[in-house]
This record gives sequence, C-alpha cells and structure tokens, in this order.
Amino acid sequence: MRQSQVGRTFLFALQAGSPLVRSLFASLTLLVVAMAAPGAAAQKVQMSIDASKPGAKIDRNIFGQFAEHLGHGVYEGIWVGPTSKIPNTRGIRNDVVVALKALKVPDVRWPGGCFADEYHWRKGIGPQRAVTLNPNWGGVIEPNTFGTHEFMDFLDQIGAEAYLSVNVGSGTPQEAAEWLEYLTTAQPTTLAKDRAANGHHAPYKIAFLGIGNESWDCGGNMTPDSYLNQLKIYSRFVRNFNPNQQDKQQMLKIAVGPGGSESRWTEWTEAIMKAYQSHTWSWDMNGLSMHSYTVVKWPPSYASVGFGEMEYAQILKSTLEMNDLIAKHSAIMDKYDPQKKVALVVDEWGGWYAPLPGSTPGFLVQQNSLRDAILAALNLNIFAQHADRVRMANIAQMINVLQAMILTDREKMVLTPTYYVYKMYVPFQDATFVPVSFDPGTYTHGDIMLPRVDAIAAKDRAGKLWLAITNVDPNQPAEIEVGLASINTKSAAGETLTASKVDSVNTFDAPSMVVPKPVSAKAQDGKITLKLAPKSITVIAVEQ
Ligand code: AHR
Repeated sequence: MRQSQVGRTFLFALQAGSPLVRSLFASLTLLVVAMAAPGAAAQKVQMSIDASKPGAKIDRNIFGQFAEHLGHGVYEGIWVGPTSKIPNTRGIRNDVVVALKALKVPDVRWPGGCFADEYHWRKGIGPQRAVTLNPNWGGVIEPNTFGTHEFMDFLDQIGAEAYLSVNVGSGTPQEAAEWLEYLTTAQPTTLAKDRAANGHHAPYKIAFLGIGNESWDCGGNMTPDSYLNQLKIYSRFVRNFNPNQQDKQQMLKIAVGPGGSESRWTEWTEAIMKAYQSHTWSWDMNGLSMHSYTVVKWPPSYASVGFGEMEYAQILKSTLEMNDLIAKHSAIMDKYDPQKKVALVVDEWGGWYAPLPGSTPGFLVQQNSLRDAILAALNLNIFAQHADRVRMANIAQMINVLQAMILTDREKMVLTPTYYVYKMYVPFQDATFVPVSFDPGTYTHGDIMLPRVDAIAAKDRAGKLWLAITNVDPNQPAEIEVGLASINTKSAAGETLTASKVDSVNTFDAPSMVVPKPVSAKAQDGKITLKLAPKSITVIAVEQ
C-alpha cells in the first residue's frame, strides 16, 4: 500500500466499521463540523517526502485523451473543414490546436467508443466520402469528412500519438488488418499507393491499438470466451508494418477489460488475464482496458452546474472509488502477470452528468465546473499512485462531450477547469513517483466523509521535485507543512486553481472564472509551508 493511501484506507475502514466505531466517529464528526465554522483557522496537515525512495514512472500516457465521433466532439470541436471562416489548418481549428499543444497531449483514442464498432475506415478516406449514420449518438448523419488522414494530421498538429480503436463488433479482422497495412506499410502495396495518392507517402506511426470497445456491451455483448476468440485473431492478424516500429516503439495492443467492480467484471478480467498467462507466440496483448465513469447511478442525473455542496461531496465520494476498482483489477492481473507486463489502461473515465437542458441528449453535452477539476486531480493522483500498473488513461472526452478540456460554440472556444488541471500537471508526465506520507484528515458533509486533502509528488526528468495537493474541503483552508528529507530547499512556487463556488464554471462570456493563479510557498529549514484555499488544486515546484 502506498503511504499516501494509508489515511484514506483508514477512513474507509472506519466507514465500514462496527457500530461503536461508527458512533464514536459520528461524535468526532459533529465536533469537526462545529469547529469548521467560517473564519476558523486553517487545518494543519503535515506531509513528509523522502525523495530518496522513488517509485514507478508516471507514464505520460495517463494524461491521454479520447475523441469519439459523438455530438460536437469531432465535428465543430476539432474539424470545421478547410472552407470554414473559423481559422483552421487543413480543416482543423487553430484555436483548439494551440490549446491542446499546451497540454502536451500524449495520445488520443479515436474513433470511439461505441462508434468504433460501427466504423468502416474506407468510408473516411479519399476525395469522395460516404455519408453514413451514427446510430449510437443521436442517429445523426456521419459525413466521414474527418477520417484517417484528418485524424493523423490533427495528431501531428498537436504533437500526440495515435491510439486507434479497431472495429471488432461489426467489422472483420481483414478490414482492420487492411487499415493497419494502409496506415503503416512502407512497401509499395496497393494500399500504400492509395495512402500516397490520398496525400501521405510515408508510413504512419500507430502507437496503440485498441481491439474492440466494451465488447461486453455496445461492442457486441460478448461473453469473455467469445471476446477472447476475437482478441486472439485480431492480435494475430492486425499487424503494424512500419519499419520503425518493429523493434523499439512497437505498437501496443490493448484488449477490452472490465467496466466496473461487480463479479461480472472480475470474471472478465480473470478470463482475459488467465488466457494471457498461457498465451502462445501467435497472439499477445500489452494492455487491458478499463472503463469507469463517475456517475453515482445510471442514467446520469447529476447536474453539471447549479448544484450545491451535497452533490459536490457525493460526486467526489463516488470518484474516489476508482482507487479500489484499480486495486481490485490490479490484484487479479498480479496473479497472472506478476511482472506487470500488461498495463491497466483506464481509457474511459470522468464525470458523466445529465445532459445540459436544451442540448441533444445523445450528444452528452455538460458543463465543467471546479468540482470536475478536483475530480480530475483526484483521479490523476490515483493513477500516479498505481503507476506500476496503470500506464495509460484517457479522459472522456476531449472536446464538447462529457468531462471535456475544451468547449466550443461556432467560432467561440473556452477552456474548462479540467483543462487547467491537465496543464498544471504537465510536469508529472513521465516523472518518477515519490511517496508522500500524511494523515489527510476528514472533510464531512452530511453522512459523507472524505479525505480533506490529497497529494502526490514526483521528480521530473531534470530532477526537479513537484508536488500536487488538492484541498477537497470546500469551506476551510488547509495549512500544509512539508518536510523534505534529503533536499536542500531554496524556494517553492507554482499555481493554484480555485473559484468562489464548487460549481463555478468558465463560459464563453466569462472564460476566466476558474483559472490558475500563481502561488508561492515559504521554504525554510528543510520544510515548505503553504496555505491552500478551500476547494483548490495546487501544483508547486521545489527549487533546490
Ligand atoms: O464516452 C461515451 C461512451 O461511453 C463510449 O462510446 C462508450 O465506450 C462508453 O459506454
């Protein structure tokens, strides 16, 4: 168990504890609530960081994104077409590209989601595009004007790698194999010549290949056994021919994994991992996907704006279940793959709320508040704490859909609070996890108890130490004292993200309600101290 999880685990042990423990805890809670009157002194939290005990690398791919053909995620969000009045480069919005470049997006998963299992790549190449339907998401017209080349161009413009989801549900291994040949071969095959005729002579690099999506549900409602049959065939025949990806930089294959914690999902993980353990040369996998949305209950009914402290606390309680979910599936994976060769890939996660009133329900349009920023930080911390197994994650979704980084409305664009968390966390990409020990204390609202603070630390490739601390408590500041064994600290400074209300949002008319502000900490005698605003996320660099 990681040290920064000790307090959290203790808290949940209490929640599930005996009636005596629970009533003692309830009395304590009342005391805490009584002490938490406005204007009360900041709660003190002591943290200690021992940078001489580094953990796993926090793979930059845990900051991955997901862009599905869904609502205005691709069309309008990324693609406006070359003849649009909205400034664009070959049809791709310039404003969005600039914003995404600042996030150093490592990879983008595309074209779905459920859409991927109905996607036929040939309809999205060449001068004449087939006009089809998108039955999953509103039954709207799919113009296929954003296809393979446009996606790869988009990646090139933002500097990200490709995570392609191939169609297992309604496609064939041959269709997927030919897509990969079209994309990656350097040999003068007919497909390579087609690729060149369509504007790209050199083979493309495909870093990740998703073999199906939610094959237990929208991807074909398969049993683990029937999916395994598909997985073996796709893994065998869907080859990457790029000469630069044969030895190093091999394409990583990601199998469909679980979608929750119930026995149905643990059985799925068991079945796939058991098969992996005895796999032969003819098939392989490098990742197991996991999907987990913060929704509390289906269908999504929580409002994304205009909510109060109770909904804030309920959503954050629900999102913290990610930790146990990862621990549960990691434990199964450890049984069959103790060397952790297979990554757990959380390639769909985020808050999923009720559609904004007046929006098309199938377009999954929601606002993005300070609560989402805190939700994002808590999940990124969880992924970092499991960095030895979780080596990739893709928030759903990048633009205009679910917990988005960016919202657009015709020529207008606004960056969400979640966007700013991703920006503040850039230094954690490929940094080395450093354990932080602390007692997080408790934030209580009604019968909900949450850790008051959460934190991760990491050393970047230049050796600089970074600390990210979230104050979950929406009412009280927190005074943090960080002891840094073996580090001669000169100063510490960074940025903090907060706002006046838990449901504060950025809008096209008021885009700066939730934006990071500079913050500096006091550094003295091997310690740094800083005061965190209520409901805030702070990232600081420690200068030595
Ligand atoms: O992200 C929206 C949808 O959620 C995806 O298409 C699907 O995989 C999941 O159920």
